[in-house]
Amino acid sequence: MEVVIAPPAQLARLAADAVEELLRSRPTAVLGLATGSSPLAVYDELARRHAQDGLSFARARAFMLDEYVGLAADHPERYRNVIEKEIASRVDFAPGAVQGPDGLADDVRAACAAYERAIVDAGGVDLQILGIGTDGHVAFNEPGSSLASRTRIKTLTRQTREDNARFFGGDVAQVPTHCLTQGLATIMSARHLVLLATGRGKAEAVHQLAEGPVSAMWPATVLQHHPHVTVLVDDAAASRLQLADYYRETFAAKPGWQGL
Ligand code: GLP
Repeated sequence: MEVVIAPPAQLARLAADAVEELLRSRPTAVLGLATGSSPLAVYDELARRHAQDGLSFARARAFMLDEYVGLAADHPERYRNVIEKEIASRVDFAPGAVQGPDGLADDVRAACAAYERAIVDAGGVDLQILGIGTDGHVAFNEPGSSLASRTRIKTLTRQTREDNARFFGGDVAQVPTHCLTQGLATIMSARHLVLLATGRGKAEAVHQLAEGPVSAMWPATVLQHHPHVTVLVDDAAASRLQLADYYRETFAAKPGWQGL
């Protein structure tokens, strides 16, 4: 696991560099897209590179991590609509190239199984962008999630619903109680995981992710078992890291050719 501590604007550029490098070397790459505020600056940077530098997503595909259950198709906070607004509509993905779990499916189990198959049929995710919840969840894999889980329905914790209430006019009662989410094993199948976290509120989760014991109580700790993880954090999110000085020295001394 590589931990990079840098100002937020640089973190977004580093993540965009990784996406750009992948797309330029393999235009048909499969991306994993996350919602939440953490990746927004990355999406801004990718949209800018699309508009100004000709970075193309035309042959790429993308899979979303998760979706609320039961939000109307036109609800602005439905993750499918959020991803459309924040990134898909700003670049040149082909129609149908971006997929997400179907939070309005009648048969939830069949929809989750179909989603797993679609990811496999696409050849798996090459680069997965991730955020992290204050309780250490990734996608919507809340504490207690099986480290071997696949796409399924989950109940959101009170903490997550309170954290996300800001997107629902501050009213936690408006935040759905259930979601469909890629499982931890689904996420672990992606070839490169790029996790972004900023702000002091993420400091404990980031410490556990990088330095805590692997445990379902901090679901993101399963990433310690992945061979290629990049954790991009600002000073505030890094404030509880025991090895912060080492991570800083390591990044400063990194050979230029190495990339992320
Ligand atoms: C939500 C999403 C996660 C995201 C997390 C953190 O619960 N399902 O994918 O990582 O929030 O969000 P933010 O980046 O806004 O802090």
